[in-house]
Amino acid sequence: MSVNKQAFLHELLDQMSLGEKAGQLNLLTGAMDATGMKNSADLETKIRLGLCGAVLNVFTPAATRALQELALTSPLGIPLIFGYDVIHGHRTIFPIPLGLSCSWNPELLERCARVAATEAAADGLHWVFSPMVDVSQDPRWGRVAEGSGEDPWLGSQIASAMVRGYQGKNLADPTAVLACVKHFALYGAPQGGRDYNTVDMSRRAMEETYFPPYRAAIQAGARTVMTSFNEIDGIPASGNRWLLTELLREQWGFKGWIVTDYTSVTEMIQHGTAAHANDAAKQALNAGVDMDMVSEAFVNELPALIKSGEIPEALLDTAVMRILETKWDLGLFQDAFARCDETRAKTLHRCTAHRQLARQAARESIVLLKNIPQLLPLAKTGTIAVIGPLAHSRRDMLGCWIAAGDEAETCSPLDGIRESLAGKAQVTFAQGCEIHLAHPPWLAEAIHTASEADTVVLVLGECWQMNGEAASRTDIRLPKCQRKLAEAILKTGKPCVLVTLSGRPLALSWEDANFSAILQAWALGTEGGGALADVLFGDAAPVGKLTMGFPHHVGQLPMTYREKPTGRPFDADVQYSSKYLDARNEALYPFGHGLTYGEFHYESPIVDSPEMNPGGSLRVSTKITNLSQHPASDTIQLYLRDPVASVSRPVKELRGFQRITLAGGESRVLSFQISDADLSFPGGDFKPVVESGEFEAMTGPDSVHLKSVRFSRL
Ligand code: BGC
Repeated sequence: MSVNKQAFLHELLDQMSLGEKAGQLNLLTGAMDATGMKNSADLETKIRLGLCGAVLNVFTPAATRALQELALTSPLGIPLIFGYDVIHGHRTIFPIPLGLSCSWNPELLERCARVAATEAAADGLHWVFSPMVDVSQDPRWGRVAEGSGEDPWLGSQIASAMVRGYQGKNLADPTAVLACVKHFALYGAPQGGRDYNTVDMSRRAMEETYFPPYRAAIQAGARTVMTSFNEIDGIPASGNRWLLTELLREQWGFKGWIVTDYTSVTEMIQHGTAAHANDAAKQALNAGVDMDMVSEAFVNELPALIKSGEIPEALLDTAVMRILETKWDLGLFQDAFARCDETRAKTLHRCTAHRQLARQAARESIVLLKNIPQLLPLAKTGTIAVIGPLAHSRRDMLGCWIAAGDEAETCSPLDGIRESLAGKAQVTFAQGCEIHLAHPPWLAEAIHTASEADTVVLVLGECWQMNGEAASRTDIRLPKCQRKLAEAILKTGKPCVLVTLSGRPLALSWEDANFSAILQAWALGTEGGGALADVLFGDAAPVGKLTMGFPHHVGQLPMTYREKPTGRPFDADVQYSSKYLDARNEALYPFGHGLTYGEFHYESPIVDSPEMNPGGSLRVSTKITNLSQHPASDTIQLYLRDPVASVSRPVKELRGFQRITLAGGESRVLSFQISDADLSFPGGDFKPVVESGEFEAMTGPDSVHLKSVRFSRL
């Protein structure tokens, strides 16, 4: 169809009533899932009247087709956009995002996002509410499960990779979906780690730590941005003109459209910055919001606000055009049913290739926290007892936000271990206790099962409801009943591997002191059990590295390896130095930590020149040797520090990483190129600066065990 896009859309806009215009900005929820407190009444009537522009929580070719047909019978017949929380896969579920980020493999994340988009689009969807790029330093916050951890630099690479994966090369392609960067902004820093709580943050922390991944996703072309529930400097995000218009659109050049989070327009009334829905709608549109998720303040209030002259109609038109243009770019005006193809859904959903990718992604997400004395990998012989309340839970292997994932199609740890050991070793099972209920553990059976076995795999942690949205915790240790089970199993004296499934870093000091081997396995998705067995029995080696430190104790939180120096740095022997009386300062398992089945030697880095010219670059190289007899992989990390600058700089910041595989005994020199972009930081006026002076480059296998070299930037 060779119709001119702008002419077509302007002609359409001219025909629209105020009600229909506001209708395009109205996002309503269907009933196939529930993701917020309010349901949308009379959805079908509103669609038929042209009072709804997009729908969430409805999917499948048949269900989206039925509503789309209604939309096409509305007076102007403008098609709907269907959106959904496809957070870590749609039908094939990948590990939770925090787990996936531990692969340190943005290319893998891009492929996972592409598969998720393909499956979602085959289910009638055009829009995914992902990536969630909120940096967080506080594992009390349950939504850390949905993000990529504490580091803005790694988080930025993952954010852009996911946007590329979702949107593909051409939005009109029926396998492409719109990405939605969320939650703009600062949602990862609620006070006390309590979800929906106030955020109070310096502009410096925003610029240095929290903004970079949103900006990276926008630079990668993300078409939509979702506001956050919190306030920024006293003004809720959904009514914050500085945030949405001055920063996002004018400074960062964002060209897409902004949707609010669920009912957050009218939540400005509870925030105490709007008197009623009318006031809230006015503030949100003025701030730069284009689409109102579920609160219906736009559709109910905007027509009157425009008639009374309180809001210029041009402002409404701009928002409407942003939505219509996207509908055009998605190809909806050409064929509104291109994504409602039952045959494609049948062929693609959970197909073999998608499941294989899910297994690879799950393997790469697993982090070996401890293996001293070396217990892993386990031999495929004798009797292996698989014990624990998460050992055979398929639902918990999927984690929070599972879109159209199906637990019946999911591989639990026990399923995976049985399959891996079939015909080679005997597998026994005991649940031992509930996940977190006060119900006393039924220890006798578990102790008996462990005593009869040669080795125990104990699977403990969080069930899916214990993390994700509205799931903050003040005590992030294993629940008491699980601890009792662990104590009882350890008393049997059998070699025991602890596998922890969780959506957040847990406080595992006791476990670290009592188990010789601990594998962090998050919620690994559809193929989780098989992937876990691959790593347990050495068919795959662990490669994951933490993207969020695990604390010794919840009282250390929030916590990050990128901490700022203080005037009184930690010194165990100095009373007036920055420390706790009863806990360590640093993480139990730091950012970047993750052991392998090999043993490596890391030499001190060297630079190819002691000086770097402005605008130039410099190479930092380090030699790694695989001391083991067999091939092994590790991810070598590069951190930089600017020890003296016009504003204080973090004690270290990640600026590079490379995963290498070396044959037994092999050595290799790895090089990292450093340029001004790596040394740049927001100066006193928050504009990027690079200052001359000495810098420190550090390399090693995690953020703590580092060797360093100095160089000067002229
Ligand atoms: C969440 C968002 C989600 C939205 C729609 C909200 O409660 O904060 O992340 O995309 O619901 O389901």
